[in-house]
Amino acid sequence: MPTIRLGEGRAYAYEERGSGTPLLLLHGFPFSSQSFRPQLDSPPKGFRVIAPDHRGFGNSAMKDGPSSMNAMAGDALALLEALKLESAVVGGVSMGGYVAMALARMDPGKVKGLVLIDTQATADDEAGKARREAVAVDVIQNGVGGLVSSMLPKLLAAKTPDVVRGRVEAMMLKQAPEAVAAASRGMATRVDSKDLLARFAGPTLVIVGEHDAITPPAKAKEMADLVSGAQLEVIPEAAHLTNLEQPAAFKRLLEQFATKF
Ligand code: MLT
Repeated sequence: MPTIRLGEGRAYAYEERGSGTPLLLLHGFPFSSQSFRPQLDSPPKGFRVIAPDHRGFGNSAMKDGPSSMNAMAGDALALLEALKLESAVVGGVSMGGYVAMALARMDPGKVKGLVLIDTQATADDEAGKARREAVAVDVIQNGVGGLVSSMLPKLLAAKTPDVVRGRVEAMMLKQAPEAVAAASRGMATRVDSKDLLARFAGPTLVIVGEHDAITPPAKAKEMADLVSGAQLEVIPEAAHLTNLEQPAAFKRLLEQFATKF
């Protein structure tokens, strides 16, 4: 896997495939770039897919402290610079969507368009922040197994094949507790991004699984309503990981979206 070096020589790994408009795909919690395996193996026509591992996940090195959405966005911006890309379409699944919105806030000129997948614009409330801290403490003390068991039933639609379920579970179990705890604490500090979406002028595609119980279709509609001209697509027979559960439908949407650039 190619790697760039960030400050203090920290390794930041990514995979890329395909050709056309750069499409940065940012993974969710607690996964890695491998959650974009279908999009890397069969890239949507018109896009060069670039999928990094956030700090501490997959093959990227850890950095101490909460992994805020801004910190992860800063890493992704450094990758665009290292690849000499002036801008990219920026997409993210769930936590990756929070990072995509942070990136658009930090450096709007780098964002040609947004793909917001099974995510939400709102910040955590106080109860949500307390749950994030409880997750962080639990994974540090006991490993990621408890988190995986509690998340797995909510991630995938009932009809998702067992082979996909098995891959998702294995990917989650592989992630380092320190990275998972830092990302959980980082998500708790994220800001509301409704103002950012209301002023974003680029093409925007919002995708959600019909059965997503973590970031439900109502959250997707809220984001799409904020961005002028945004396209909202609800994928049937999918829950929170639409790109893994329904890769063919997901690819068709991206290929249509690619024609806008
Ligand atoms: C994710 O899939 O990235 C997480 O469910 C996001 C979250 O917990 O808010």
